[in-house]
Amino acid sequence: MKPVIILNFKAYREGILRMEEIVESAREINESGIAEVYLAPPLLYALKISENGIPVLAQHTDAISYGSHTGRIPPEMIGSAGLKGSLINHSERRLTLADIEFIISRFRELELISVVCTNNISTSRSASALRPDFVAIEPPELIGSGIPVSKAEPEIVEGSVRAVKDVNPSVRVLCGAGISRYEDLTSALELGAEGVLLASGVIRAKNPGEKLKELAGIEP
Ligand code: G3P
Repeated sequence: MKPVIILNFKAYREGILRMEEIVESAREINESGIAEVYLAPPLLYALKISENGIPVLAQHTDAISYGSHTGRIPPEMIGSAGLKGSLINHSERRLTLADIEFIISRFRELELISVVCTNNISTSRSASALRPDFVAIEPPELIGSGIPVSKAEPEIVEGSVRAVKDVNPSVRVLCGAGISRYEDLTSALELGAEGVLLASGVIRAKNPGEKLKELAGIEP
């Protein structure tokens, strides 16, 4: 299977300023077939990107249904707007267990992709019991650090892969935090992960489009 690369723009200004080149690189990588890239831009920009044929994930979805809610986004809107799915329970947007379960099961009914973020082996194990498509293990202390989790804490990645597959072999595991280079991606794959979730290493790079291609293994 192709490695999965999910690029979270967070709310970095650079991601907005350099959006076009990032989108172009994502397109190039996906067309080359070398990896499967999903972009997770701020929601205000999601439609613009997905209309360009790039698979887009929301950075967050709320555990609600259609109705009287202000400033919130139910799973149904993610689907009807043409997004492919969402990050759920990101370290910077934690949810309750009940909310995580609600969103994953609605996503399953709506055929949307659920990517649940976790912070250690036990939460990865618990998250996998809820049957998401992906569990993305991200030790919070390494987020934004530039120190790749696949190097600094390989045992958390391996342990999470083992724990998740024990509970539910069909759940795919990603790892994130400090990922920026092709070798971070390949070490993640060697540890049993099926891809990476990252942000600053590409979004804040001098040439984010080039950096994304390099990460996927396309020579400059
Ligand atoms: O969602 C990705 C993330 O939290 C990792 O951030 O900047 O360490 O790649 P970063």
